[in-house]
Amino acid sequence: MTPRIPTILMCPPDYFGIEYEINPWMNRAFPADHGLAVQQWHALRGLLSELGATIETVTPCSGLPDLVFTANAALIDGRTAILSRFRHPQRQGEEAVFRDRLTQLGFEVIELPADEYFEGAGDALFCGETLFAGYRIRSSVHSLQRVAARIGAQVIPLELTDERFYHLDTCFCPLSQTSAIWFPAAFDHYGRQVIEANVETLIALDEAEATCFAANAVVLGRSVVTNIGCPRLHQQLRLAGFEPVATPLSEFVRAGGSAKCLTLRLDGEDAAAWAQRHPSDL
Ligand code: ARG
Repeated sequence: MTPRIPTILMCPPDYFGIEYEINPWMNRAFPADHGLAVQQWHALRGLLSELGATIETVTPCSGLPDLVFTANAALIDGRTAILSRFRHPQRQGEEAVFRDRLTQLGFEVIELPADEYFEGAGDALFCGETLFAGYRIRSSVHSLQRVAARIGAQVIPLELTDERFYHLDTCFCPLSQTSAIWFPAAFDHYGRQVIEANVETLIALDEAEATCFAANAVVLGRSVVTNIGCPRLHQQLRLAGFEPVATPLSEFVRAGGSAKCLTLRLDGEDAAAWAQRHPSDL
């Protein structure tokens, strides 16, 4: 069997900026440094290529500053992409762009009913056979049930309780089929219990590292790419046999995103059981 080549969708930050405020990180009074954002994005892209990933891109669009956050395009399940339905009108224009690009890439694109909210891999992450899914702040709990039924997966809905961690990928990151990074305080009591009961090995973040977006990591085999500023997590990852890599992403943090948000794994995350069963034919 030919080895799987990780394939990642990214969008160059040509039109990236802080043009509106839809999460507590965004403040138009503190705009991103555009030149620095471009530099940081290219460094991330270069790093992921060096780690063996093939990068596909979406053509940037003026007026869609958050299109860089391709994690929010869709949830990928094999050759099916469940397209996002953004809660905020400011991001709804991205849906058609992602739909067209994913179709071009050969995915069967499924669109949810117009009155549902679902923000793709930002809120829905496979760990083993199970789809862990965050709801309330962005995705709606109802849409998660619909998504899970559509792809026939067991879903564990997790209520997100802290506005700073408004997408699941800001506070939970599967590392393998049985392990994950998480920030327990972003969940309610039930959520914490369910995660503890369903993920064998958990690496907990403290508040300082969680607010550096330490959980927003890109996992490529044993390599884990994060923003700078999370040495404690990196130490824990090394102890667990991973190879952490830091790259500065300050300008994207101003928009409420970091490494993971800037990527969408098209061949399935390493932590997804289905991706191991069906080697990619991308
Ligand atoms: N400004 C974007 C928003 O608020 C950031 C999205 C970050 N994406 C993510 N997958 N967490 O929607």
